[in-house]
Amino acid sequence: MTRIFSGVKPTGHLTLGNYLGAMRRWAEEDQHRADALFCVVDLHALTVEHDPARVRRLSRQAATLLLAAGLDPALCTVFVQSQVDEHLRLSYLMECTASDGEMRRMIQYKEKAAQEAARGGTVRLSLLTYPALMAADILAYGAHEVPVGEDQAQHLELTRDLAVRFNQRYGTTFVVPRATHPAVAARVMDLQDPTSKMGKSEQVRTSGIVYLLDEPEVVRKKVMRAVTDTGSEVAYDREKRPGVANLLDVLAACAGGDPERLAEEYDSYGALKGDVAAAVVETLRPLRKRHAELAADPSYVDEVLRRGAERARGLARPRVDAAFRALGLLG
Ligand code: AMP
Ligand code: TRP
Repeated sequence: MTRIFSGVKPTGHLTLGNYLGAMRRWAEEDQHRADALFCVVDLHALTVEHDPARVRRLSRQAATLLLAAGLDPALCTVFVQSQVDEHLRLSYLMECTASDGEMRRMIQYKEKAAQEAARGGTVRLSLLTYPALMAADILAYGAHEVPVGEDQAQHLELTRDLAVRFNQRYGTTFVVPRATHPAVAARVMDLQDPTSKMGKSEQVRTSGIVYLLDEPEVVRKKVMRAVTDTGSEVAYDREKRPGVANLLDVLAACAGGDPERLAEEYDSYGALKGDVAAAVVETLRPLRKRHAELAADPSYVDEVLRRGAERARGLARPRVDAAFRALGLLG
C-alpha cells in the first residue's frame, strides 16, 4: 500500500497557505487512499529563536487544527515528531550521508540565515542541518509520496538524493520518495507582498497573512486590502500581475474553477476581492467550528497524539535499526 508522510512546523499560527497548499489534500484525498502519517514537526521549530511555552502551545494548536481540517485518526496517523525518537536517530545518519555544500545550497536556509543576520541574531547550526532531519522524517517511514506546497520541492529533491546515495553505499534500505503538489494554490502569496510566500510568522507585518483561526471579519478586511497591480483589467499573469493572480488562485482553490477562466468573469478588482473574501470565509467556516469543539476537550487531542506516536514508533523502528546496521553500527 502507498505510504504518505507530511508535516507542519509549529513556528506560528497556521495559515491559508498551509491549508490550501497542504492540509486540505491530506484530509480530502491522501488519508482516504493511502496509509498516511501527518506530523507536527516540533523539533524543526527549534531551528530559529523560540519561546518554549509558545512552541508547546502552537504544537497542540497545530495538532488540533489538523483534526479540525478533517484528518480522521481512524483513517490516518497524527502525531508529534519529538514523541518518536526515531527521527533524531536517523537524522544523524542523514547528516553523515549529506555534504556541507548541499545543505548550504538550500534556498530556505539562505533566506532564513539572511533574515536572522539582518536582525542581528545568530544562525543556529540546526537551521543548516534542518534538511537532514526532514529527510529522516520521511525516510524512516518508507514514505512513497510527500504532499507539500511548492516551497518544499528543493528539500524533497535533497531527500531523494540522500535516499539514493545511502542505498548505493550501504545497500537498499530506503524508499525513494516523491513530492506531490496541489494543482492550484501550491504557493499562496502574501496579500500585502504578492512576490513572497504567505508564511506563518517570519514577516513582521501580518496584514497580508490569513490565519486559519482569523474571525470572518478579519479575513474579509485582509482580502479587501490585498495589494493588486497597477492597471484595472483582471487577467491571470503570475509574472506581471502577481497580486491579482494570487487572488484568482485562492478563489479557484476555495470555490472551484480554473484561475485563467475565472479572470474572464471579472471586470473590477473590487468585485474579485469580494468573491475571494466570501469564498475564503466559507472554506474556513467548518474548520473554525470544529476547532472550537476540539479545543474544548484537549484530552481527546492528547490521546490521539499518544496513539499516533505509538503507531509511528512501531513503523519507524525496524527501518531505522536496519539503517544503523547497514552503516556499520552495532546498533
Ligand atoms: P510549514 O508551515 O513551513 O511547516 O509548511 C507546512 C506545509 O504547508 C508544507 O507542505 C508547505 O509547503 C505548505 N505551505 C506553507 N506555506 C504555504 C504557502 N504560502 N502556499 C502553499 N503551501 C504552503
Ligand atoms: N520543512 C517543512 C516545511 O517547512 C516541514 C517538514 C518537516 C516536512 N519535515 C517534513 C514536510 C517531512 C514534509 C515531510 O514546511
